[in-house]
Amino acid sequence: MQTQTLTVDAHAPQAAVLTAAADVIQRGGLVAFPTETVYGLGADALNPVAVAGIFAAKGRPASDPLIVHLADLDQLELVVAELPPSLAQLHDLVPGPLTLVLPRHARVPLSVSAGRDTVAVRVPAHAVAVGLIRAAATPIAAPSANRFGHTSPTTAAHVLADLAGRIDLVLDGGPTPVGIESTVLDLTSPTPRILRPGGVSLAQLQARLGAVEVAPRAATGAGAPDAGAAPTDTGAAAPGMLERHYAPEHELRLVCGAPDPARAWLAAQVVALTEQGVTVGVLLCAEDIARLQPLLSAHTALIEALGSEADLAQIAHNLYAALRRLDARAPQVILARDFGAEGLGLALRDRLTRAASGNVTWLGDGPA
Ligand code: TXA
Ligand code: MG
Repeated sequence: MQTQTLTVDAHAPQAAVLTAAADVIQRGGLVAFPTETVYGLGADALNPVAVAGIFAAKGRPASDPLIVHLADLDQLELVVAELPPSLAQLHDLVPGPLTLVLPRHARVPLSVSAGRDTVAVRVPAHAVAVGLIRAAATPIAAPSANRFGHTSPTTAAHVLADLAGRIDLVLDGGPTPVGIESTVLDLTSPTPRILRPGGVSLAQLQARLGAVEVAPRAATGAGAPDAGAAPTDTGAAAPGMLERHYAPEHELRLVCGAPDPARAWLAAQVVALTEQGVTVGVLLCAEDIARLQPLLSAHTALIEALGSEADLAQIAHNLYAALRRLDARAPQVILARDFGAEGLGLALRDRLTRAASGNVTWLGDGPA
């Protein structure tokens, strides 16, 4: 299969491009498209054959359910069996980086939800995504457009690096603004429960819903079963916690703690590893680079910059691209630190701990 790329205006998508992409969706094909979070790999959510194509192209296990993307909240009734009252409190966060787990309508193929009686739905805040869903006139199932277990794509080039030759079309709308995936919120549990922290923060949800639980894996990043776990291991837990995910090719070691001790840990690792002849790559915010620059230059560490930690949105926007760039420079070990648990910090910690697949050092009190 030859993968076609079409450039599209992210703010005012050309009708001809959307029509061409919608045509691929309606014929049961696969289209990668930008959302505000990351690129998605889309197919007609109501066509089981098309949905099977998503799992095949990604190499994704059938046990991991997909998010159904809608053009607006009016489309909820197409895919959701029953709307909980709490939904009314969340209207100002929609469209946006928030995925809601709700009771599945029988119209949605079981494979979309990996056999569950729930369905995850999201209205993306991106003109290309919404334009595509409207033009296709069907809800679009879309996981992140990467091979299973890899880092999510924030540019069309990232998509092609993973999926060229495996999908029909990529809509290139430039880099995605948020840069990390949506928050997955389960509204079917007695207390609303965050299964995956993301672009909408815990505090934003608490302000609207009152009590909100954070699933243990999502809270600490600890204890994720890896991607190779047998399907039988995956039934009970929330599926968002299953993937040893967002992983670079090279070993990532993460330190979680306050900035000063974490920087001291990073500095000590750089010294110890380079003295052993190991090529070290570091993923650092601007404040880290300012303080560690002399040491890093002296030890010829490879550096990728994430932006200022005073602006976690900037760090989220840059994270995956910086991780891919660093990985491509082939360090033997990648070192990184977390950015706390406030706001987007929780989602950043979640993605970094998954990328480190358990290789995490907690300074101070450890996971909360
Ligand atoms: O920002 C995003 O959410 C991106 C863009 C493309 O929308 N999509 C994305 O999809 O990250 P994916 O498939 O990579 O991650 C979806 C997460 C998975 O962890 C999946 O297990 C969880 O949502 N999920 C999907 N359906 C679910 C369900 N019915 N119950 C619980 N979790 C579900
Ligand atoms: Mg994904």
